[in-house]
Amino acid sequence: MSRVLVCVAWPYANGAIHVGHVAGSLLPADIFARFNRLIGNETIMVSGSDMHGAPITVSADKEKVSPEVIANRYHEINAKAISDLGMEFDLFTNTHTHNHEEVAKEFFVKLLEKGHLEKKTTHQFYCPSCRRFLPDRYVEGTCPHCKYERARGDQCDSCGMDMNADQLIDARCQLCGGVPQLRETEHFFLKLSHFTDDLMEYAERSSHWRPHVRAFTINVLKDSLMDRPITRDISWGVPVPVGGFDDKRIYVWFEAVIGYLSASKEWAMLEGRPDDWKKFWTDGDCRSYYFLGKDNIIFHTIIWPAMLIGHGGLDLPYDVPANQYMNLEGQKFSKSMGISIAIPEMLHMFKPDIIRYYLSANMPETKDSEFSWEDMSQRVNNELVATYGNFLHRALSFTHKNFGEMPALGELDDRDRNAIARIAETSVFVSKAYSSCEFRVALKAIMDLAQFGNQYFDQVAPWSLIGKDKARCGTVLNVSMQIAKALSVMASPFMPFSSESIWKQLCMDSTIEEVGWKGIEDGLVAGRKMEKPVPQFAKIEATSAGDFQKYSALDLRIGKVMEVRPHPNADKLYVMSVDIGRPITIVSGLKEFYSAEELCAKTLVVLTNLEPATLRGVKSEGMLLAAEGDGKLALLTPERDLPAGTQVTSGLEAGSRSISFKEFQKLDLRSGTLSAVQPATVDVGGRMVACTMVDGKPGMTYAVLMNADKSVVMTSSDGVKIVFDREIQAGAKIR
Ligand code: MF3
Ligand code: ZN
Repeated sequence: MSRVLVCVAWPYANGAIHVGHVAGSLLPADIFARFNRLIGNETIMVSGSDMHGAPITVSADKEKVSPEVIANRYHEINAKAISDLGMEFDLFTNTHTHNHEEVAKEFFVKLLEKGHLEKKTTHQFYCPSCRRFLPDRYVEGTCPHCKYERARGDQCDSCGMDMNADQLIDARCQLCGGVPQLRETEHFFLKLSHFTDDLMEYAERSSHWRPHVRAFTINVLKDSLMDRPITRDISWGVPVPVGGFDDKRIYVWFEAVIGYLSASKEWAMLEGRPDDWKKFWTDGDCRSYYFLGKDNIIFHTIIWPAMLIGHGGLDLPYDVPANQYMNLEGQKFSKSMGISIAIPEMLHMFKPDIIRYYLSANMPETKDSEFSWEDMSQRVNNELVATYGNFLHRALSFTHKNFGEMPALGELDDRDRNAIARIAETSVFVSKAYSSCEFRVALKAIMDLAQFGNQYFDQVAPWSLIGKDKARCGTVLNVSMQIAKALSVMASPFMPFSSESIWKQLCMDSTIEEVGWKGIEDGLVAGRKMEKPVPQFAKIEATSAGDFQKYSALDLRIGKVMEVRPHPNADKLYVMSVDIGRPITIVSGLKEFYSAEELCAKTLVVLTNLEPATLRGVKSEGMLLAAEGDGKLALLTPERDLPAGTQVTSGLEAGSRSISFKEFQKLDLRSGTLSAVQPATVDVGGRMVACTMVDGKPGMTYAVLMNADKSVVMTSSDGVKIVFDREIQAGAKIR
């Protein structure tokens, strides 16, 4: 038995995790950790939310709340989504804990004492009109390497190069667009040059790394490494443990990578064995694996190893099996660009194993892959349902129907022996693939075994034996069940929920997790009563998936009415100032339904990315959503008060391009009255539709995004449902 530490890149707590996070790092890590536990390796998997850094403060600025509110909100949402997806973390914590702060500061002090940090006076961009130092992330300009014009000061999204903002050409302040000036400020630098030789030696001896990871690392090391500033002029983050630095913080990347260590320590404390973390860090014989997307490679093969070497006494990453990107219709997933499919919402639509299957089968291991709803439904329907699920269900239900119990294994013929040999071969092959982090190869071999199972079943044709030779029939069914059992064990790292359920249907004691990989060969116990099998997977509709996506074009925000004036040139219109995190002007036709007083200070839902239109000489920058029916009108409003600017979605990230009124009108949004809770069903004017919602109140009328398959109640990004400010009939159209 050996020990394995599974580390997963810490997702920023500035938004819900999306398909890219899962395919890129979370899922491969979970598959790998599960496999290692199955083969009996002592394994821990740790990560958490990355709570600090510009992504969080940028979101907080937008919503006008403190960074802490954003970070805590998304930490909760993501911790839940991760657990619902079946990610088996030993600890999923966050970087805003007391423990992390202490461990990060200690690490800093250790490097300082050992002479690896240096204080230097530097120049940092300062925006005179915003009157603040600008974190690199807040500076935009042209990338000096690839000339991409919208590179950020911390990293270029186009070529992946990370840099300092002063390297940008034509720098601009991202907050106000103004030209920032460089000002003097003191910072600590990590003397990366101290480690170049050690790092080169480390990368060169790591011949087991994925070729692209190793090549990238060696390439960066060929140029001399520049010292990197590891403190910043900001107020959100881990304090610098040195006098005179009270108004500065440790740079997010420097402290976040320390999270792997602090989380291991926190885990050990929670286990009640506070020294146990050492088994995974200081023994020299624990293998640590770091799962992440390719934009994070440099931090895990250069910066973090340099920090670990400088610190001393801690093991370097054994492997960094970084993935490429999963793209969405050819574009990189990016929350800030509004290209995303959020996991909490996906979990409303599909069982976790369905999501896990597709993201594994299409995992960007060796090259970028493409997420598409069409591809997802095809792979799920043709492979998971028609091959894998079909074999399991036909074998199990035929046996249950004709025997009611696990049949005994009689004499074997060549075909049976071949099948049993095939199980053993596949087990060896799949085990190797898992061990070397070739998950797609492993999954393909498992699906091939399921296909083989179907062929075996067709050839032995138990339905033709049942009447003539029941013993022989029992034997071929027993062999089929052995294939099913092997599949459930081998596939359990990918699809843990369905695997455990199949295992139970095979009358096995305990669980796959308890029995482990050897459960593949353990015999079936003849004579045990079988329960009626239930199919594990059902076909999914490409259209339901596609439907779901169409609402992602909308950028809906909570707006607060600040001022209402009559339109100077139109009797029926108001000109309103609405705060959506920033003030905008909206021309609305609400005059015949609401007085100006009634509207003032109201909290409403605003479509903010509608192409601006000029109505009788006044430019309207958004639209208030309202339902209209039977000559009545009701405005959409959150069930409880929310800050201006809060995102309202069906769980998808907001659209970033403008949409036309015509496009908006094509969408079907309606009022729906909840008529049943389990499963949630809403009445949209005499028609009952299945609907996704949590904790709805029967009789209450909600704003519903209509989908062919399953509709969704509109909610804010943190789950507050959208209702109406006045009574309105069910089925009224929202516009
Ligand atoms: N939050 C970073 C990202 O999403 C990843 C941090 S990984 C860590 O890109 F190791 F630094 F924690
Ligand atoms: Zn670039």
